[in-house]
Amino acid sequence: MRFLKITAPAVLAVFALAFAYCESNPYREGERLYKFHCSNCHLDDGKGLGALIPPIAGASDFLDANRERLPCILKYGLKDTIEVKGVRYAEAMPGVPTLSAIQITNILNFIHHTWGDGLPPYRLDEVEHLLSECPK
Ligand code: HEC
Repeated sequence: MRFLKITAPAVLAVFALAFAYCESNPYREGERLYKFHCSNCHLDDGKGLGALIPPIAGASDFLDANRERLPCILKYGLKDTIEVKGVRYAEAMPGVPTLSAIQITNILNFIHHTWGDGLPPYRLDEVEHLLSECPK
C-alpha cells in the first residue's frame, strides 16, 4: 500500500506533464492531427496517391497560391478540379468540420514547416478570419 501511495501520484504527475507538453507544442499537435485526419489519403510523407490524391509535399506552389483557401478546405472539404505539380485531380476531399481554428492552424503550420519550402506560418487570428469567410 505504501508503494502505491508514493507511485500513484508520481505516475499521475508524469502523465500530466506529458499531456501539457503535447498540448503546448503546436508542431507536434499538428503532426498528430495530420496523422489522424489526413494521412489516410495524403500518406504520412505527404506524397499523395497516384492520380487520385494530390501530393502536399513539394506542392508549395499550390499551397502558396491557395493560402487563403486552405483553412476552409480542411474544414469543409474540396470538390473541384485542381492542378498540382502539373497533374489534374478531380476526386472530392471530405472536410473535417469538427476541427477548431487552433487545430487547423497547427495542421497547416505542420505542413508548411515540413513540406512548405519556407512558406511563412499561419497566425491564429488569420485562420479565424479566413474561416469566418468560407464559401457556403
Ligand atoms: C478521403 C481522402 C482525403 C482526406 C482524408 C484528406 N484529403 Fe486532402 N485532398 C484529397 C483530394 C481527393 C484532394 C483534391 C480535391 C479536388 O480535386 O477537388 C485533396 C486536396 C488537398 C489539398 C490541396 C491540394 C494539395 O495537394 O496541396 C490540401 C492542401 C489537402 N488536401 C490537405 C488535406 C489535409 C490537411 C487533410 C486532413 C485535415 C486532408 N487533406 C484530408 C483527399 C483527401
